[in-house]
Formats: sequence, structure tokens, C-alpha cells
Amino acid sequence: LGTVVAVDGPAAAGKTTTCLALSKSFDLRYLESGRTYRIIAFEALQRDIPVENATKVTGLCDELITASRSVSLLTSDRYAQDKLRAARVNVAVSTVAKIAEVRQRVTSLIRLWAGAQPRCVIEGRDIGTTIFPAATVKFYLTAKPEVRAMRRVRQERAASYEHVLDDVVRRDEADMSRTTSPLVPAEDAIRIDTTELTVEQVLRLMTSACRD
Ligand code: CDP
Repeated sequence: LGTVVAVDGPAAAGKTTTCLALSKSFDLRYLESGRTYRIIAFEALQRDIPVENATKVTGLCDELITASRSVSLLTSDRYAQDKLRAARVNVAVSTVAKIAEVRQRVTSLIRLWAGAQPRCVIEGRDIGTTIFPAATVKFYLTAKPEVRAMRRVRQERAASYEHVLDDVVRRDEADMSRTTSPLVPAEDAIRIDTTELTVEQVLRLMTSACRD
């Protein structure tokens, strides 16, 4: 295992913004693991596969992995961001992410990907707990749901605050209550509550921890 920075936490906690900045400052390859769950959910919806059907969704997952020759599914540029972030994908993704067989496959892909990157930063829900328990540095970013929803509304101008807050709270509950790799801070993660902090302040904390 090379240098792996694991950044986990609930929806819209600021993981992407800070990971991108860390990847630049420390010259790390960046991976957004949630995107893969979104791709699987999006494809299931496109093909009218019920997302509750674990067998069918797992079959779809295998098909997508084969079609993109394994690990490239993680970084596929075939999917526009607005499609993967559509409201219906937000709803479907929590169900897809509950399926143990799907998580197993995504976990293997991420481990493969990281094996080829000596230095990387990966964001998700289970990076520091399940995928890389031996990560070099682990962060758990969080903030009050209302603040996270507000930040996301500013970022995606079209969405209404109430809808975004509902979605954030619903996905957090689903992520925290599932049986396979639920969202919890790793014991050795550096926990940062960003409710009252600016991006710069969060980054200062993360940067100094990475330097240590
Ligand atoms: O960007 P945002 O925080 O809204 O979500 P995301 O990182 O794109 O992740 C979308 C969904 O994928 C989450 O709500 C989780 O249900 C799931 N996910 C997961 O289960 N495990 C991961 N390592 C990453 C995402």
C-alpha cells in the first residue's frame, strides 16, 4: 500500500472540494468513490432494472465492469455530472449502495485502482473503515444537515433547499443504517465538524495533518 488519504463522511460535507485541493497540494491522484455507485444506479434506471432487486443490480454491475474492462468504470468519463446527480439517481443510489455484492465489487475495483497509484486521495463512506483500514491518514468530515443542504443548494443552483435537505437526511440515514459497511467514522480518523468552518480553515487542518 502506498500513500492513501481516506476522506469519509455524510452527503455534502465538503469531501470533494477538500479532496481536490489536497490532491493538488500533495500531488495525489483523486478518486470519488460515490460516482461509481451513482453510475450503477443511473444505468439501472436507464434499463428499468428495479434497484431493490439485488441479483439483477449485481448482474448489471458485473456487466458494467466487464464492458469498461474492470477498473476504468471508476473513472469513466461517459457520464455527465448532471445526469449522475439527478434527483432520481439520488434516490436510487442509497438502495444500490446497500447491496453487499455490489459493495464487494466496488471495493475490489477501488483496491485495484489504488494498487496502481502510489499516492492517492479517495473520498467515500467506507474508505477508512472497510476499503483501506490501513490508510496513511483518515479524515471524517461532517457538518449539521442544514448547513450541508445549504451548501449543496448554492452549488447546484436549481435545487430547492427543502428537497436537498430531505435528500441529505434520507441518504445519511440509509448510509448509517445499512448492514454492509455502514457510514461510521474509523476509530483513528481525524474528525472535523465543518459546520462553523470555511473551506480554507478545513483545508488548513487537513493539510497540517497530512504533513505530520
Ligand atoms: O456527493 P455526495 O456526498 O452527495 O454523495 P456521493 O459521494 O456521490 O455518494 C452517493 C451515494 O453513494 C451515497 O449516498 C452512498 O449511499 C453511496 N456511497 C457509498 O455507499 N460508499 C461510498 N464509498 C461512496 C458512496
